Amino acid sequence: MSVAAGQTEIVVCPDAAALAAEAADRIVAAAREAISHSGRFTLVLSGGSTPERTYTLLAQSPRREQIDWSRAWLFFGDERFVPHDDPRSNYHMAQQSLLKPAAIDPTHVLAISTNLETPAQCAAQYESSLRHFFDLDADNSFPEFDLVLLGLGDDGHTASLFPGKPSLDEKRTWITWSPPGTLPPPVERITFTLPLINPAREGVPLVSGAAKAAVVQEIREGPPDLHKRPASGVRPAGKLTWLVDESAAKLLSRERGT
Ligand code: 6PG
Repeated sequence: MSVAAGQTEIVVCPDAAALAAEAADRIVAAAREAISHSGRFTLVLSGGSTPERTYTLLAQSPRREQIDWSRAWLFFGDERFVPHDDPRSNYHMAQQSLLKPAAIDPTHVLAISTNLETPAQCAAQYESSLRHFFDLDADNSFPEFDLVLLGLGDDGHTASLFPGKPSLDEKRTWITWSPPGTLPPPVERITFTLPLINPAREGVPLVSGAAKAAVVQEIREGPPDLHKRPASGVRPAGKLTWLVDESAAKLLSRERGT
């Protein structure tokens, strides 16, 4: 079902395996549409554990052949301030599950470097590499990514935008840093800001498991409260497609998906 710009769709899948397949198929479809429309596909990868299965499917046949990776550019919505070979690194997870198995050209992967002295320096460096990529160096405008994948923490955080943190009030900065949140791993972060997420053509929160059911219900059916539930601030200019599995959707009363 196609969704009008600015609208939201929630898709409930039977389980985590079906969720991963649905997400992978939607990424393939979005890639094809973007490449035929503008000649390239810009995909922002999410961290955490939930997307790993989706990345693995994208690196396997038949989906691997269904995307023209030579026209796809991959970015990271957030990163933990640890070395890239650290198992807690989002880059490490993506490298193992997608980038290496699909032999993605490293020049098409804009990872968040974590080898500078502070997360603030890493954030500034990543912002300048993105501004260079989109040729928006000094401009006040924001780029429009084709698809931004997002996770959801049990506390309602998304990317590394944690409840009550100053990063939530950023208006002009594209990339910022954050002290650790309350959930593991207790490390500093580098993260997209909401002003960089929200111009996207599509935002896709990918949510699995009963532990997320209460926060999904609160965000989907309660009043938006950015500082309490940061994911409620995700409002892409294009469409917002919540992909959730049955366990994460079990408390939703009003909308049960299509
Ligand atoms: C991170 C993520 C974070 C993650 C959520 C959900 O670096 O931790 O980007 O936002 O998506 O915490 O994590 P799980 O998928 O592991 O539940």
